[in-house]
Amino acid sequence: GFEVLAAKSSVRVSVGENETIAAALARVGVKVAVSCEQGICGTCVVDLLEGMPDHRDEYLTEEERSEQIALCCSRARSPLLVVDL
Ligand code: FES
Repeated sequence: GFEVLAAKSSVRVSVGENETIAAALARVGVKVAVSCEQGICGTCVVDLLEGMPDHRDEYLTEEERSEQIALCCSRARSPLLVVDL
């Protein structure tokens, strides 16, 4: 498992094995806009401030992957991700 910290909201949440980061954040009151929920449209993309993401989307370019993350489907390789929300 891993945790996500929404920096601007000062909310930290543990992301369950069977839920998305977007769902985990919504559970604690941090709204994430989603549309396709399949990593294709880019609606759920936010800036990544810290941590090592495990990108599962098909939207971001290799260049964008170092600083953004699609919250509907991507996960983490580090214990904590910090996002700009
Ligand atoms: Fe479409 Fe995440 S909602 S890429």
